[in-house]
Amino acid sequence: MLQKIESVKEAVINRTVLSPAELEQFRNEYLSKKGILNQLFEDFKAVPAEEKKSVGIALNELKTLLHEKFEALKLQFSQEQELSNKTDLTRPASPFNWGGRHPINVVRKEIIDIFSRLGYVVADGPEIEDDWHVFSALNFPEEHPARDMQDTFFINHRPDIILRTHTSSIQVRVMETMKPPIRVICPGRVFRNEAISARAHCIFHQIEGLYIDKNVSFADLKQNLLVFARELFGEKTQIRLRPSYFPFTEPSAEMDVSCSICGGKGCNVCKYTGWLEILGCGMVDPNVFKSVGIDPVIYSGFAFGMGIERIVMLKYQIKDLRHFFENDLRFLEQFQSQF
Ligand code: PHE
Repeated sequence: MLQKIESVKEAVINRTVLSPAELEQFRNEYLSKKGILNQLFEDFKAVPAEEKKSVGIALNELKTLLHEKFEALKLQFSQEQELSNKTDLTRPASPFNWGGRHPINVVRKEIIDIFSRLGYVVADGPEIEDDWHVFSALNFPEEHPARDMQDTFFINHRPDIILRTHTSSIQVRVMETMKPPIRVICPGRVFRNEAISARAHCIFHQIEGLYIDKNVSFADLKQNLLVFARELFGEKTQIRLRPSYFPFTEPSAEMDVSCSICGGKGCNVCKYTGWLEILGCGMVDPNVFKSVGIDPVIYSGFAFGMGIERIVMLKYQIKDLRHFFENDLRFLEQFQSQF
């Protein structure tokens, strides 16, 4: 009897079962009512008492082996079944949804690239600033309206901690820490206490530039900005400089470019003037040099600053500034092909 059990055991171990149908056959053969296992238990009754113990152990081992093998195979086939139900390998792959750059970033990068080719390097600074870097070092008089809470976001009053209203604060930090010659471009987010509308927002982006060396003149300013305007808006672009005022530059100017949409003939974007105002600029005021410890007798320089949103709006003819901040995919997806 022991020998018989051994040979059945061996047959079970070597038995290959490759499909659910074969598994059913296996169950029928060994585990059904009339199967081999039950048959052996029948035979067991006739085993002499002195052999019962050893034969019983062998028989139970066989029983365990059979059940374990059956359960493992059952599990394996049910998992395979589940997988094949779920995975249809003939289905086309789902299209990958590429992201795109935000239009503000597209244009910011473009502007930085142009000035990098002219030898400017990017400088960065904090958005939360003190009064000195935003106003005092830049020659703002004590009673200037920009220092008012109406125009500027205050985090703390006396000592004044504020959100920077322009990235000129970065230029102050650069002048305090670097020695001329200096050629930097300062991109960043700025904050002003304005009501949100199609043309204004309390958060926007600026890029400002600063160029300091010996013998820098207004002609250098004009030449740098002309190159920039032609790179950004096309080589036929003209510029014009109108006198203006900023506390930190003297003389100061506002720069217009010829309207890139109508070529200067007049259209509704340029309000039939042929010109678009894009930036403020001027020669650094000697008072600014004094407050950061640069000698205005030896050095001179120019600065300029522009709002990125305005340039993006002109370039892509976007009518409402609020689109930039709303993360509406129908708007953003239109810029996916941009670098
Ligand atoms: N800081 C000015 C602004 O925010 C722009 C500017 C920069 C003007 C440098 C002149 C020189 O409007």
